[in-house]
Amino acid sequence: MSDAVSVAPASSLRGALHVPGDKSASHRALILSALADGASTITGLSPGQDVAATALVVRELGADVNGDGGVVVVTGPSAGLRASTHDLECANSGTTMRLVAGVVSALVGRHRLVGDASLSRRPMDRVAAPLRLMGADVEGEGPRVCAPLVVTGSAGLRAIEYAVPVASAQVKSAVLLAGLSASGHTTVHESVRTRTTTEEMMRHAGVTVHSVDHEEGRSVTLTPGRPRPTTWDVPGDPSQAAFFAVLGAIHRDAALTILGVDAAPERVGYVDVLERMGARVVLLAGDRGASLTSASADLTATEVTSDEIPSVDEVPVLTVAAAAARGVSAFRNMSELRVKESDRFAASMDLARRLGCRVWDEGDDFFVEGLGSAARFRAVDLDAGLDHRIVMAAAVAGAAGAGATISGASTVASSYPHFFDDLASLQ
Ligand code: S3P
Repeated sequence: MSDAVSVAPASSLRGALHVPGDKSASHRALILSALADGASTITGLSPGQDVAATALVVRELGADVNGDGGVVVVTGPSAGLRASTHDLECANSGTTMRLVAGVVSALVGRHRLVGDASLSRRPMDRVAAPLRLMGADVEGEGPRVCAPLVVTGSAGLRAIEYAVPVASAQVKSAVLLAGLSASGHTTVHESVRTRTTTEEMMRHAGVTVHSVDHEEGRSVTLTPGRPRPTTWDVPGDPSQAAFFAVLGAIHRDAALTILGVDAAPERVGYVDVLERMGARVVLLAGDRGASLTSASADLTATEVTSDEIPSVDEVPVLTVAAAAARGVSAFRNMSELRVKESDRFAASMDLARRLGCRVWDEGDDFFVEGLGSAARFRAVDLDAGLDHRIVMAAAVAGAAGAGATISGASTVASSYPHFFDDLASLQ
């Protein structure tokens, strides 16, 4: 794919599609399978480069990974994973680096985790802190412990009780993965309930994990143990479905269906946001994942807090919905956006501004004065800066509005290599 992509305005949008396998579940299926003794089978694995990075890393650590697309078989070595003398290349994938940091903390030896320019700017102190408490040595660049990350693992990790200071499923998961071979029960407290992918998938692989929901937040306690080989059926990625949900809502002549989507409550907060804005979105549970339909509607502004979308992955595309709505939308407590694949706080505001909206920020909140309709969007021309979700949010705005030219569009392959084909298939 050429690096700059032009998206033409679509006159009408109809159809149904499957989005790629959930990225979160795909990383964990590879990692838990690699930790097991024997062969596990994965169907529906995400085809994105982020997940391919995790596959390469677990292979580097001694697991066997075979197959492509349809069915992938991962065989964990009986003697367990072991340190590699090569760098562990995490590419653009924060999930790979943070989860693997947890895994290698428990593997004796020195592990060097590297990433691309985007990943090398992202803070790893959030995983370094708890992993050091458990007994691993974790070194990185500067005060935020950026990559290259050098982890010296230990066979005798201590179990800890840890309150995660930022809402982060990645940090929770790093601690739980390290805890699999720690000295006793590891407990993670989170004040915002983040996605439960790790806990549920560990249970599926026979590991004992107890979760208790509090009025605010959740505590998760893990009993050390080795995951068992198993079969995984990865559902569709709800964060990718969000792009089409917004597209269907803001385009003046659209009726779209996304099939087979994971509808865990921590993942589909954006559906409630869109409903509140007046979108005609319906999430319907089914045997093989939920279906999500979205059809043209007039949207009104709303207030979005980070608690209802804990990973804030869907905020860039919700900013596009806000840009098409009537009134001023508020996005509150969005500091985590600044440390994603790009500074999505700035990038989301920039996108709305380029569409023609008045935008402003106050501390960790930002505001978008909508234009009342995507038909009033200006054509946008922007650089996505190694951020797949900015590529897709800009493409949604372009297809619903006056078109978009996106530089750096090839970075969409980190999570959704066929995004532009799927978008075209609806026209
Ligand atoms: C992910 C968690 C989220 C999310 C990321 C995937 C995961 O990050 O942004 O795309 O798979 O655990 P944080 O946990 O850092 O919020």
